[in-house]
Amino acid sequence: MSEPKKLYIKTYGCQMNVYDSERMSEALGGQGYVETKSPDDADMILLNTCHIREKAAEKVYSELGRFKGLKADNPDLKIGVAGCVAQAEGEEIMRRQPLVDLVVGPQSYHRLPEMEAKTRTGEKALDTDFPEEDKFEKLKNRPKAKRGPTAFLTVQEGCDKFCAFCVVPYTRGAEVSRPADRIIREAQDLVERGVREITLLGQNVNAYHGAGPNGEMTLAGLIWELNKVDGLERIRFTTSHPNDMSDDLIEAHGTCDKLMPYLHLPVQSGSDKILKRMNRSHTAESYLRLIERIRAARPDILMSGDFIVGFPEETEEDFQATMDLVEEVRYGYAYSFKYSTRPGTPAAERPQVDAEQADDRLQRLQGMITRHQREIQESMVGRKVSVLFEKPGRQPGQMVGKSEYLHAVHVASDAPSVGELRDVRIVASGANSLAGELL
Ligand code: 5AD
Ligand code: SF4
Repeated sequence: MSEPKKLYIKTYGCQMNVYDSERMSEALGGQGYVETKSPDDADMILLNTCHIREKAAEKVYSELGRFKGLKADNPDLKIGVAGCVAQAEGEEIMRRQPLVDLVVGPQSYHRLPEMEAKTRTGEKALDTDFPEEDKFEKLKNRPKAKRGPTAFLTVQEGCDKFCAFCVVPYTRGAEVSRPADRIIREAQDLVERGVREITLLGQNVNAYHGAGPNGEMTLAGLIWELNKVDGLERIRFTTSHPNDMSDDLIEAHGTCDKLMPYLHLPVQSGSDKILKRMNRSHTAESYLRLIERIRAARPDILMSGDFIVGFPEETEEDFQATMDLVEEVRYGYAYSFKYSTRPGTPAAERPQVDAEQADDRLQRLQGMITRHQREIQESMVGRKVSVLFEKPGRQPGQMVGKSEYLHAVHVASDAPSVGELRDVRIVASGANSLAGELL
């Protein structure tokens, strides 16, 4: 048998990309590739790119430039660009960087094997279409390789919301949901391979409306079906939009035993003026009332969110409204970003906020978020949580895992095995994790 070819994948950005990279690796596995941790000995390098913030395309070009030496040493090396920058820039990438052999958009990953074969004949391969078929169905898993205890599972892709700052509706296209039976089969397969916790992924995951046995199924319906999968212990989902937080999903947070008490629900800003300009179609007040209802269903739920500061025309007063909202919600985790223009989006054309002012606001917001995060972590001390153990800790004899609230928890014991769920009493709160004792 010939030597396996080596594949190096570098993944940027969101969890959706992490999931896609796994699927691409499996697809190319069928072409005789095994993954390698370094680009130096690779026969194929794939950059799975993200286009959401900053100067994404420029970073990709500079990363590609660094492979020049490798390609000179190994003329058979193939270089590919996948992900949202591939979708957004398309042929431009091949024009600007002749080292690139292959450009594949997120909707075309199932075509990767044929595209790879094409590059082996010396041709370039480009595919950034939005085809109709279900790429994941075509990217069927290879024979049952063992998996770690947690996995992502994409259930929905794309977005029809068109927030004024965001490239997703352009790079990932219109919202599409996968049929429920395929998702459930994939979940069963993951469980057979050792997975205990599944995070359902989608850019607008709670807008899920895939085909079910009796018409369309909501995300809550899908979660209830997954709740029946034996051996699956935990279900999470991300990322949600406030406007799609339906009654059945709120209720499921109170009644569905495998659904974890954690919800990532970005609001982006606390100012109604800015929310309107962002085309968010909800207000700060409606968001706060929504959280009240979610907390009524599941009082201990840990909230997480995303914020953009320095959106065009944001005044100090608008920013203060964001600070007020954060103070009221108290997030267990929150991700805050300085607005950065994405060419082609409506907000790119509007008057920009002074960069220093935006930096200053970002610092103030992050200061408050960090304080809440720490206080919430400290409030866990003394409490009993359930931990899904994932791997040995950094210190010898330690094991680490995640609580139901997604806090990292370590115990000074190697008794729990990987994939085991154990009750733990939290005894101390550190900078980024909690310490606990097995019960
Ligand atoms: N500038 C800054 N942050 C952005 N995000 C999306 N687009 C931009 C942009 N142009 C943030 C939003 C989103 C998260 C994934 O990234 O907060 O929820
Ligand atoms: Fe982007 Fe999310 Fe808005 Fe869709 S809902 S446009 S993915 S920020």
